[in-house]
Amino acid sequence: MANILVTGGAGFIGSHTCVELLASGHEVIIVDNFSNSKPEALKRIKKISGKDVKFYETDILDLDGLNKIFDENRIDAVIHFAGLKAVGESVQKPVEYYHNNITGTLMLIQAMRAHDCKKIVFSSSATVYGVDNPVPYVETMPTHTATNPYGYTKVMIEQILRDVAVSDPEWSIVLLRYFNPIGSHKSGLLGEDPNGIPNNLFPYIQQVAIGKREYLGVFGNDYDTPDGTGVRDYIHVMDLASGHLCAVDYVLGHKGVEAVNLGTGKGSSVLDVLHAFEKACGKKLAYKIMPRRAGDIAWCYANTDKAKKLFGWEAKYGIDEMCTDGWNFIQKNPNGL
Ligand code: NAD
Ligand code: UFG
Repeated sequence: MANILVTGGAGFIGSHTCVELLASGHEVIIVDNFSNSKPEALKRIKKISGKDVKFYETDILDLDGLNKIFDENRIDAVIHFAGLKAVGESVQKPVEYYHNNITGTLMLIQAMRAHDCKKIVFSSSATVYGVDNPVPYVETMPTHTATNPYGYTKVMIEQILRDVAVSDPEWSIVLLRYFNPIGSHKSGLLGEDPNGIPNNLFPYIQQVAIGKREYLGVFGNDYDTPDGTGVRDYIHVMDLASGHLCAVDYVLGHKGVEAVNLGTGKGSSVLDVLHAFEKACGKKLAYKIMPRRAGDIAWCYANTDKAKKLFGWEAKYGIDEMCTDGWNFIQKNPNGL
């Protein structure tokens, strides 16, 4: 069992992954600055796991703060979630996004290198496939055409980590390209807790279901898809968490760099998700067709062969479980964590 430093461990995907790491016997050390999360997430992780988690309220831009964490702990590997992730906001605040995500990663790499910790799993995104590649997305496709500053931070950080691996063959790096993570821990104690009006489909539907918002705006029904609405590869956040466990085991035992898709390989349309959620909550949910959202694409789903081959990992849950668990969470936490 290993000591894992989890940056951004109080966030949506990080908190679920910490629960899985603890359940499998790893020691977890979390660093987060709560810029998009709350201390309550840490309490919930402890409640679910029954285990103690070491926590540092540190900004990853603070190199001295990071060095202190590595001085005080023997860290075997890092899972790096910390980053800003709102696509629209990144267009308004490119400098803040590039600084937080890229400089933050450079600081982390420096602290790791100084402490001879050279194993890292990075949160990348399907967004790196850009707009020119055909679906399903395969890891070998070119990834140089993001459509917004957030997407470019992922493209650039992937490149930085590849260059680090070339410069020093001791590094072991997995770039996990997530598709659309939704759903919640079965307990209903952890889940996605966005600030303000949700940008993403699933938290928006959750808020319609509990009566916080009147209707879902469906961004376009004239795409070249079966029902005209956008198709995405939704993946249960607990499947994503178990994928991280596999990736950590992989970096602990290998060297070099690998990019790996984490998706289900199946696409669901906006209306598919809405109807699955209606089934989960047992009521009709209102929606209105709106204009397309700038930057959206018609299709996005993964080829999942590599994760199967490299990790022996496959997503277990379907859209119905994602909705059941998401409904459970929002009922128990109508105002978030
Ligand atoms: P999140 O915002 O819930 O979690 C990110 C965490 O990082 C937050 O707790 C935030 O407070 C923390 N953080 C941000 N900047 C920091 C800094 N400078 N120092 C310390 N902590 C900092 O987001 P999430 O959905 O859990 O996403 C985790 C990672 O996965 C992100 O890198 C995101 O870009 C990536 N990702 C997410 C999705 C998605 O749809 N949720 C899809 C693809 C990739
Ligand atoms: N949608 C609506 N109404 C809404 C919100 C979304 O119809 O209120 C539609 C979108 O048009 C899209 C689908 O629902 O067709 C999914 O949209 P999301 O915003 O939930 O997710 P995206 O696929 O646009 O973006 C996600 C992550 C990004 C990441 C991207 C690619 O949020 O961080 O996947 O990996 F960059």
